[in-house]
Amino acid sequence: MVGAPRWGSGAGGSRLRMLAALSGACSLLLLIAWYRVGSDLQVLNPVTVYSFWRTGKPFYKLDISWPKSPEKLTGQTFCVAVDHINGLVYVGQRGDDNVPKVVVFSEAGYFLNAWNTTVEMPHGIFALNTPNASSVWITDVGTGKDGHTIKQYSPSGQLLQVIGTPGEAGSGINPLQLDQPAELFVEPTGDIYIVDGDGGLNNRLFKVTQDLKTVWLHGENGTAITQFRIPHSVTVDSVGRVWVADRANWRIQVFDKITGEWLGSWSSCFTEDAPYSVRFTPDEKFIIVAHLNTDRISILAAPPVGSIGDCIVVDTIQLAHEVKPHLLDVSKETGAVYVAEIGAQQVQKYVPLQRHRKLLAPLSSFGWSSVL
Ligand SMILES: *[C@@H]1O[C@H](CO)[C@@H](O)[C@H](O)[C@H]1NC(C)=O
Ligand SMILES: *[C@@H]1O[C@H](CO)[C@@H](O)[C@H](O)[C@H]1NC(C)=O
Ligand SMILES: *[C@@H]1O[C@H](CO)[C@@H](O)[C@H](O)[C@H]1NC(C)=O
Repeated sequence: MVGAPRWGSGAGGSRLRMLAALSGACSLLLLIAWYRVGSDLQVLNPVTVYSFWRTGKPFYKLDISWPKSPEKLTGQTFCVAVDHINGLVYVGQRGDDNVPKVVVFSEAGYFLNAWNTTVEMPHGIFALNTPNASSVWITDVGTGKDGHTIKQYSPSGQLLQVIGTPGEAGSGINPLQLDQPAELFVEPTGDIYIVDGDGGLNNRLFKVTQDLKTVWLHGENGTAITQFRIPHSVTVDSVGRVWVADRANWRIQVFDKITGEWLGSWSSCFTEDAPYSVRFTPDEKFIIVAHLNTDRISILAAPPVGSIGDCIVVDTIQLAHEVKPHLLDVSKETGAVYVAEIGAQQVQKYVPLQRHRKLLAPLSSFGWSSVL
């Protein structure tokens, strides 16, 4: 009975098992140490960035020179979107008639343009950029004659399309009616994912085609899976998953973009504040989430294909008190994170530091090599 040694058989096997158990225990200790270092640094260093890994090196650095003319932002800055192909940053802001509702900067920080036609109260903004078409889409939660809609504009502010019934709040599908639509994501194919909305009649996530035919819809108010309480932000990853910041339920829910099937949800990362935004880094290894009430940005590890597993915070950025980060966007070109801060009435730019990969390399010892 002499055979080749196999896993789990004979003396060699038990030595291997011991080794595995030992390295598992070490990993666990390391993980606990990381958490401790993380929370200590957070206390020591509340204004700037602290890191999960013991070097204390941050993921992002604030670019204090952006934008070059901050005085152009004169209203409440609710949202920001990056057109990475053309290097444009659109900011949606609210205020009286003298406040332009959209202000456009270059990614380098120069003021380019401002316009305010037909936008009452911007909430969410999305920049669609494909090689052959660029446009900017705004959800308008105003209650006047132009409100309860989503509008598509050319980069210079020419109105191209209105979705919803202007001036009329509702829950209809055909014709489409919205109430306080919070945000949207548009695919290059023209398919649109809408979260509706920000505390109005509806708690809906739905997908429509370019000609506004509903593909699937989840529309119940509640706390069970697939139900929503203030679905506030939406994004779609390249493997076909739709990520929704389900704000008043303090969780992120994930769906299959083709079928609408529920794939999972995360709430363990959101014990101190709800997720307000959901956006991926260009490599889709991380998700960036804004927390308005704690003035914080969380960087979460994004699981690759398939099951979303558990939520893990790998870093946070603690912003100044009362800046109130509401929504944000990430440049797919530079990886820069632009944060719209309602309280501070500003947009801040965080640039990624090259250290990411190195910093996270030890995580591969947990079998996470696929994430890295
Ligand atoms: C916005 O509209 C107001 C009033 O209609 C006007 O006074 C202002 O000049 C406009 N601003 C811009 C940037 O177009
Ligand atoms: C852009 O080009 C692609 C590929 O040629 C095409 O499928 C798509 O419909 C075009 N988009 C628009 C908005 O014209
Ligand atoms: C959703 O349910 C909650 C709790 O019952 C309630 O407070 C809220 O008003 C509901 N929203 C809508 C739009 O019905």
